[in-house]
Amino acid sequence: MFLVLFLMLSKECWNLGSSGIRPVPNEILYGKVGSNFTMPGLEQDQHDGVIEWEFSSVEKPLAYIATYYFDSHIGPDVFSAYNKRISFFESNGSFVLHQLQKSDEGIYYRKINLTKKWIIDLKVYEPVSNVLVYPVPGENSSILLHCNFSGDGDFIYWSRDGKSVPDGWKLMNRNQTLQVPSTEACSLFRCEIFSAYEKKSNDFIYKNEHCKDWTSIKIAAISSVAGLIIIIIIIIIILLVIYFCCKRRKSSHNKLPEVQKLRSDGNPSPQERSQCLLVSAQAAGSHSEKV
Ligand SMILES: *[C@@H]1O[C@H](CO)[C@@H](O)[C@H](O)[C@H]1NC(C)=O
Ligand SMILES: *[C@@H]1O[C@H](CO)[C@@H](O)[C@H](O)[C@H]1NC(C)=O
Ligand SMILES: *[C@@H]1O[C@H](CO)[C@@H](O)[C@H](O)[C@H]1NC(C)=O
Ligand SMILES: *[C@@H]1O[C@H](CO)[C@@H](O)[C@H](O)[C@H]1NC(C)=O
Ligand SMILES: *[C@@H]1O[C@H](CO)[C@@H](O)[C@H](O)[C@H]1NC(C)=O
Ligand SMILES: *[C@@H]1O[C@H](CO)[C@@H](O)[C@H](O)[C@H]1NC(C)=O
Repeated sequence: MFLVLFLMLSKECWNLGSSGIRPVPNEILYGKVGSNFTMPGLEQDQHDGVIEWEFSSVEKPLAYIATYYFDSHIGPDVFSAYNKRISFFESNGSFVLHQLQKSDEGIYYRKINLTKKWIIDLKVYEPVSNVLVYPVPGENSSILLHCNFSGDGDFIYWSRDGKSVPDGWKLMNRNQTLQVPSTEACSLFRCEIFSAYEKKSNDFIYKNEHCKDWTSIKIAAISSVAGLIIIIIIIIIILLVIYFCCKRRKSSHNKLPEVQKLRSDGNPSPQERSQCLLVSAQAAGSHSEKV
C-alpha cells in the first residue's frame, strides 16, 4: 500500500520535474557547441495568452528565460542571464539561443497560459574531430591500436578489413584501445566514432616485416597459379587445333569423291600434310606470342 503510494508520488515528481529527478521529456533535441539553436515555439501563431520559458540542469535547478504576453504591445521579458543570448519570436513564442554552450544542456520547460507544459531535453554536443588511429606498445608481443579523438563520441566501432573485429579481441579504455594478437596484423583497421549527429572514422594499415613476406608469398602463389592455368589453356588449344585439322583432313578423304578421284592411294597428299602442320605451328606460335 505504502509502496504504491510512494510509486505514485515519485511518478508525480518525475512528471513535474521537481526535486532533482529527471522528468520524462516530450522531445529530445540535439545542438552543436557554438551553433545557434532554435527552441520550438507554438505550431500556429498565437494572438493572446502567455508563454513562459524555464531551464533546469544539475548546476542550475531553475532559471527563468523569458515571459511573453502575446496580446501585449511590449516586447518579451527576458531574464538577465539570457538578455544578450536570445532572439525571441513574438509570433509563436519560439527563440534562438546563440552560441550554444555545454552549460546549456538540460531541460527546457515551455508553459502556455501557466499550465500547459512542454518538456524539451536539450543535449549539447562537441562535434567529433581529429579521429586518429595509431599503435601503442602492448604486453605479450600483442599490438595495441589506440583511437584518439576529440569531442563527444557516444560509441566506438572497430573493424578489420571491412568486418567487425572477432569477439575474443580485447577492448580497453571505453573501447578506445583495441588489442590485436600479433599474428593477426597485416590488415586495414578502421575506428568509427558515432555521435548523435555524425560518424567520423580513421583508417590504419598495420604492417610489420612479416606482412611483407605474406604479401610477396601471396603474389608469388597467385602469379604461379595464373601462369599454370594459361599454359594449360594453350596446350588445350594446340591439341584442339591439331585434332580438328587432322579430322578435317580425314573426313575430306572419306567423303569427297572428287578428292578420291584425284588421289589414287588414299593417303593425304604432301601439300595437305604440310598445310596441316603449318596451321598447327601457326596456332601454337600465335598463342605463345600472346603469353
Ligand atoms: C549565430 O547568430 C549570430 C547573431 O545572429 C550570428 O552572428 C552568427 O553568425 C550565428 N552563428 C552561426 C554558427 O550561425
Ligand atoms: C516560429 O517563428 C519563427 C520566426 O518567424 C520561425 O522561424 C519558426 O519556424 C516558427 N515555428 C516554430 C514551431 O517555432
Ligand atoms: C491561452 O489563453 C488565451 C486566452 O487568455 C486563449 O485565447 C489561448 O487559446 C490559450 N492558448 C492555449 C494554447 O491554450
Ligand atoms: C600477458 O600474459 C600474461 C600471462 O600469459 C597474462 O596474465 C596477461 O594478462 C597478459 N597481458 C595482456 C595485456 O594480455
Ligand atoms: C589525442 O586527443 C587529444 C584530445 O582529445 C589531443 O589533445 C591529443 O593531442 C591527441 N593526441 C594525438 C597523438 O593526436
Ligand atoms: C564497446 O564495444 C562493444 C562491442 O562492440 C559494445 O557492445 C559496447 O557497447 C561498446 N562500448 C562503448 C562505450 O562504445
